[in-house]
Amino acid sequence: MKTREQTFLMVKPDGVQRGLVGNVISRLENKGLKLVAMKMIHIPADLAARHYEEHKGKPFYDGLIEFITSSPVVAMIWEGDDAIAMVRAIVGATDPRKADTGTIRGDLAVFMGKNIVHASDMPESAAREIGLFFNDKEILAYSLPHESCLYE
Ligand code: RTP
Ligand code: MG
Repeated sequence: MKTREQTFLMVKPDGVQRGLVGNVISRLENKGLKLVAMKMIHIPADLAARHYEEHKGKPFYDGLIEFITSSPVVAMIWEGDDAIAMVRAIVGATDPRKADTGTIRGDLAVFMGKNIVHASDMPESAAREIGLFFNDKEILAYSLPHESCLYE
């Protein structure tokens, strides 16, 4: 069964610095997903800690927080049927060396700590992450011209 979903995706500092924001957006647009919110921000330490709270205590946590707060990111919300799993599939495995060719990480990244994007992994994290980065007024409702061709 199809489920209309919204998911949170962020181009991390390495993706912004390498000029890959457009490449990431194009892949999601080309698939037929709908961009419903977007902002560029320099993440403050408190927001980084809340965003990555599931990883607190892990060996890579401090480096992850330092990296994600080091330079601006582009935060987005993408909408579509089964958008959470679909975006994760387009993003690829966490370790770029294991990520399939054709995915963002498989095509564009080499190192786990510089894997270009973050994407929500389940409905609960999508809702939580969307709420951390966006308020309701920043999420826009509109139709894509070919939406019915894609989903119905
Ligand atoms: P993300 O949250 O960024 O979409 O990535 P993910 O779900 O595929 O991976 P997750 O386990 O949530 O890890 C979050 C980010 O932490 C870095 N990481 N480093 N062993 C390590 O050195 C390690 N494990 C994870 C990665 O940058 C990963 O995206
Ligand atoms: Mg994750």
